[in-house]
Amino acid sequence: MVTVPGIESVTGRTAVVTGGASGIGFAMAQRFLQEGMSVAIADVEQSALDNAVRELSGLGAVIGLRTDVRKVEDVDALAAATLEAFGRIDVVCNNAGVETGGSFLSIPEEAWRWVMDVNFFGVLNGCRVFLPLLEAHGGGHIVNTASVAAFNSGTATMTPYCVSKFAVLALSESLEIELRTAGSKVGVSLLAPGPVKTRMTEAERNRPADVPAATEPARVAVMERLAATTAESGLEPAEVAGKVLDAIRTNNFFVLTHPEMAQAGVQRRLDWMTTGIPPVARQAGS
Ligand SMILES: NC(=O)c1ccc[n+]([C@@H]2O[C@H](COP(=O)([O-])OP(=O)(O)OC[C@H]3O[C@@H](n4cnc5c(N)ncnc54)[C@H](O)[C@@H]3O)[C@@H](O)[C@H]2O)c1
Repeated sequence: MVTVPGIESVTGRTAVVTGGASGIGFAMAQRFLQEGMSVAIADVEQSALDNAVRELSGLGAVIGLRTDVRKVEDVDALAAATLEAFGRIDVVCNNAGVETGGSFLSIPEEAWRWVMDVNFFGVLNGCRVFLPLLEAHGGGHIVNTASVAAFNSGTATMTPYCVSKFAVLALSESLEIELRTAGSKVGVSLLAPGPVKTRMTEAERNRPADVPAATEPARVAVMERLAATTAESGLEPAEVAGKVLDAIRTNNFFVLTHPEMAQAGVQRRLDWMTTGIPPVARQAGS
């Protein structure tokens, strides 16, 4: 079984970053540009995308493409525009993500579909569209953004988010194993952050018209607490971007900004399996 060595020298390579207009995606784009890469940032929020391109253009070759990752035709167009601009694609960060929720019966189907469409199908679209292009250019790297939620079911009011991130975990692990077993030159990483200072707790700013705002008091309280603790003790996005770059260079799968939070979730399940005693709900941000 061949282990792909990673992309030691990233200078001159091209990266695509979805959700690149804000937060972690923006920081990844910024870091890649600082390392001499060309970057295509994709985002659904046009004004944020325009601002991001303006802010980053002093650092190097960057283009912004309005993309809704839920739509495979948008992702196809993103790939075509990136190839036209830069000639090749080496790194793809499937990073766009959203969050809404509440207690189980308060969550409408439209909210489930929005979260799954962006967080899971957006990542899947990116993998399906870009993998053949990376293979065609002799290799590359895919970074899929999950969350510590990928290891932590039972996080109060965040069930759709947890489900979507579990799906990203399973997709990414399966893809990594399949590609490595087949001797592919494409590496895969899973970025699973804990709290990072971004606009994630304001994700509903991008909700489609058919998704109602989540106004349940218990849910609002979770978001307020999460926003407060993230503002106080969350990581800076630039630090996360540095870890992603290291993982691309070394072809490391798990990019864990808060490994103790990921491991606690896995341990909770193991304990449940071995003792039969179910855990209590986990409270994000506490
Ligand atoms: N910030 C955290 O604490 C944290 C923790 C764990 C995981 N994450 C994950 O990190 C990723 C990045 O989020 P962030 O924290 O930087 O939040 P953010 O809200 O600052 O950035 C997310 C970006 O995704 C874009 N986006 C939303 N829907 C889209 C769509 N349909 N198509 C294209 N772009 C879309 C938004 O416009 C925004 O620019 C997400 O997948 C999120 O789930 C964040």
